[in-house]
Amino acid sequence: MRILKDAAKQYLPERLSGALRELLHPGSTKPLERITYDQDGLITMHNCDFMHQDAFTRAYLAGDVLGSWFGGKVHWRVHVLFWAAERALRLGGDFIECGVHLGGFSRAVVEYVDFGRLTDRTFYLLDSFEGVSKEHLSEEEKKRGILDYEYANDYEAVCRTFQQFDNVKIIKGLIPDSLSQVDCENVGFLSIDLNSAVPEIAAAEFFWERLLPGATVVLDDYGWEKHLAQKHAFDKFAESRNVPILSLPTGQGVIIKP
Ligand SMILES: C[S@@+](CC[C@H](N)C(=O)[O-])C[C@H]1O[C@@H](n2cnc3c(N)ncnc32)[C@H](O)[C@@H]1O
Repeated sequence: MRILKDAAKQYLPERLSGALRELLHPGSTKPLERITYDQDGLITMHNCDFMHQDAFTRAYLAGDVLGSWFGGKVHWRVHVLFWAAERALRLGGDFIECGVHLGGFSRAVVEYVDFGRLTDRTFYLLDSFEGVSKEHLSEEEKKRGILDYEYANDYEAVCRTFQQFDNVKIIKGLIPDSLSQVDCENVGFLSIDLNSAVPEIAAAEFFWERLLPGATVVLDDYGWEKHLAQKHAFDKFAESRNVPILSLPTGQGVIIKP
């Protein structure tokens, strides 16, 4: 019996071994099995009080109402972006997002750090507003259904969303071609979410020398099965620069510029 118990503990996922324990010894499972977060491909019993704090909920809502996330709940991913943005507040530098859609992440970040008051900084938002370019996709990416996403491609709506912020600059065009329009030297925050490896690597290469030491790069798609090509490309990118990528259970990858 002891051997069986040990094997169950070692090889079964916690929820399954908990269920087994409950079957064998009813009433013995601890409140430990309480789930605190179950959305967006992530289930955990760990503390996520951050998502109930006023500043968080207000900023999250500012992004959520735009419909950028197709109705999905992405609190933990947004939490990671807020953390990166707060670091950039202390560090200095401009903010960049490559892949904006309807502005969900970027509008939430603007609200959270009150970006409008940072008159000496610019938040650059880059998007083709035409979706992913077929020419950029490998056969593997096509097979994985990268072209299935149906983006709103609504440039005017994004302009309206940010019109009250003089320091938000929207750059419409395909990356990498549009990168030359980014006239900044120092970057403190970089969010990359293009769903396609070729332009993502081009953006990372373009911004790498402009990133301040300590700046955070958040790769939205790094750990998602559908986006394996992006993970492979970024693993190579990181290896050649001798930096590690932190793989998060949200599906994001994080790089800190040395
Ligand atoms: C997943 S969405 C971005 C979601 C966004 N971060 C949010 O907060 O909702 C990906 C976006 O990348 C854009 N995109 C894809 N490939 C691009 C490229 N090569 N250049 C510019 N934009 C691109 C698409 O038009 C789409 O709006």
